[in-house]
Amino acid sequence: MSEGARRLDDLVAFKRVDPHGARDALVDFPRQCRAAARLRAEPPLGIDPPPVVVVAGMGGSAAGGDLLGACAGERLAVPIVVHRGYGLPPTAAGRALVIAVSYSGDTAEVLSAVDAALERRLPLVAVTSGGALGERSSRLGIPRVLLPDGLMPRMALGYLLFPGLTLLRDIGLEVATEAEVGEALDVVEALLTGLAPERPSEENEAKQLALAIDERLPAVYGGPVTGAVAYRWKTDVEENAKTFAFAGALPEMNHNTIEAWRAPRAAGLQLVFLRDHDEPAAIARRFAVLRELVGHSAGGVSECWARGRGRLARLVSLAYIGQWMSYYLAILRGVDPWTVPLLDELKRRMR
Ligand code: F6R
Repeated sequence: MSEGARRLDDLVAFKRVDPHGARDALVDFPRQCRAAARLRAEPPLGIDPPPVVVVAGMGGSAAGGDLLGACAGERLAVPIVVHRGYGLPPTAAGRALVIAVSYSGDTAEVLSAVDAALERRLPLVAVTSGGALGERSSRLGIPRVLLPDGLMPRMALGYLLFPGLTLLRDIGLEVATEAEVGEALDVVEALLTGLAPERPSEENEAKQLALAIDERLPAVYGGPVTGAVAYRWKTDVEENAKTFAFAGALPEMNHNTIEAWRAPRAAGLQLVFLRDHDEPAAIARRFAVLRELVGHSAGGVSECWARGRGRLARLVSLAYIGQWMSYYLAILRGVDPWTVPLLDELKRRMR
């Protein structure tokens, strides 16, 4: 057994490296998703289907919007635009619906998006655990989904995704059917025992992925659907394990990033493919050819397959495996997966 595997199977070490109990939040994730799927906006939105949906959020709070958009895919004629930044884009006009998502409720960019939505008199709904966004929405009677507090935003992905699905279904935009939501909840629940710290390295896919990456930097590539999760894996690695990660999607990366794999530094990277049993044959072929062309340049190649049949289950299962993988990477690196001191300091200086 390798030194890394020993470390990942030492449950006492978890408590030393993870004093805030990020693992408890991850163990609780399936329950979180179930609770999140029951949440509703108060007061209800009560609008006709909008021509465009703009999800305003940053970091972990934007991730729910990314998954919402990836899940909607070709099913919705209405575009879901994820806006990361101050204000709102010009497409947020007329009857456009703005979903302002901030777990803490205090993110400056999202509060400025709310200002813009109010100024443009757009239909608006807030998804938050409180803060200034919670206070403002309750004072102004803006429909609000109130989330339980106490989590790190990136570990509240269930709360930041499932209410969006319900909100949109209630106004006639079905991103996922109730049956697909039910399947996603079951799939995530079934994944837990295989990924949790008690499950030893040789049987634990998330630990194996972390061990394969180890000192290398992960370069995570998804397909047209799983590309959104690749980006989430990257940000989870950055925030939890505090190291660099790359993300991209096929086919686009075949047209540019592929050339970077000729660099000698590729040997310091772990190629990670996020695969999906439902990916088109052309995409499966591209993964195979990409592996033939650049696999030998990488330090190693890992693959992780989505679980479930519906698109939502496939996306959420991959996101959940990525959360655990980045958690174990943090443990291997001996860094607290919970705290984000530089992000906190930046927010403090910007106030
Ligand atoms: C921290 C995290 C960050 C935050 C981001 C926005 O765990 O994931 O990416 O999500 O700084 O803050 P919130 O989500 O509170 O609006």
